[in-house]
Amino acid sequence: MEIKSLLVLSLIWALVDSCTTPLGETSQCVSLYDCPALLSAFEHRPLPSSVISFLKRSSCGFEGYVPRVCCGPLPTQDEEQPTQRPWSSTTESNNNDVDPVEDEDSYPAPRDQCGVDTNGDRIYGGQFTDLDEFPWMALLGYKTASGRITYQCGGVLVNRRYVLTAAHCVTGAIEQQLGTLVTVRLGEYDTQTEVDCSDGVCADPPQNIPVAAAYPHSGYSEKNKNRRDDIGLVRLARRARYSYYVQPICLVGNGRISDGSDVYVAGWGKTLNGKSSPVKLKLSLPTFNKNQCAQKYRTLGAELIEKQICAGGSFAEDACRGDSGGPLMRKRPEGIWESIGIVSFGYGCGREGWPGVYTSVAAYNDWIKSKLSATNV
Ligand code: ARG
Repeated sequence: MEIKSLLVLSLIWALVDSCTTPLGETSQCVSLYDCPALLSAFEHRPLPSSVISFLKRSSCGFEGYVPRVCCGPLPTQDEEQPTQRPWSSTTESNNNDVDPVEDEDSYPAPRDQCGVDTNGDRIYGGQFTDLDEFPWMALLGYKTASGRITYQCGGVLVNRRYVLTAAHCVTGAIEQQLGTLVTVRLGEYDTQTEVDCSDGVCADPPQNIPVAAAYPHSGYSEKNKNRRDDIGLVRLARRARYSYYVQPICLVGNGRISDGSDVYVAGWGKTLNGKSSPVKLKLSLPTFNKNQCAQKYRTLGAELIEKQICAGGSFAEDACRGDSGGPLMRKRPEGIWESIGIVSFGYGCGREGWPGVYTSVAAYNDWIKSKLSATNV
């Protein structure tokens, strides 16, 4: 009897502790210090991003402050290729000359392959993001009269080929004021440094991809004070390469967004000091009651519509100039990030009682899907 229960116990123990390594092998979840194969990876500085990525994917909990890992050898170059990575692709090619139309570009990234913030866990009043946080963030670059590229809007990667942004970032005054939208920058962190590093870890260089075409929503017009239909898609001339620092976000799925729920904005927009931020910033803010928000903006002659969301409204906590086109995001209970809004406009920035206005992604899900399939030909 006793032997039997001991057996059951050790069986349970084995089940609890057994795990699958990122390479698909069955192994044990042990303290990092008990796994020489992975511990030795720390000897190289700076740590290559492929190693960090592998270590993170090997993690299976903590023992106090010490991470536990699903112990197994680091992959060799060949093994590291497509296996198990949510962002892997068998069709991906590094050859930039060959760039066929891929069917998967006609849809937002599938739900099991998007919104994975590899990170474990200052916009106006915001904070620095981590190097690898929000890997779907894109910067839109405009070519000025002097031939310089200036980055003035944000966006998010929804699959390898398309960036979702605001209509006012791809059409109208912005092109007269700044120049033509020519390029998209992915995997950026600090626009002022060539290689972005933090704590001895360096990100891959950003991917600069020329713009093939931009598709603002046909309902958008600068004449409309409410900025309705402020949404657009940018098609990249080359497909983005997914990596630890470049990944797609999910589009909002089911679930209501109740007033006061915590959401995030991120971007390189203007901060309290009046300048745009070189470093990608983030800010957590609550969604704002839509009726109250509509009442506020009505006093300015802007009649907000159903397809807009308001968020913020506290002093010095807001998106601002340069953040346009960037996402309003939330993290689902399963840990997946989804885009729920697009930075559209506000009344100044960070004024108490004046929330920012965002285009609701849920309201345009069908538009996004039909545009992706219609333009990916
Ligand atoms: N329209 C601005 C831009 O071009 C961003 C507006 C966001 N403003 C705000 N107060 N939430 O970048």
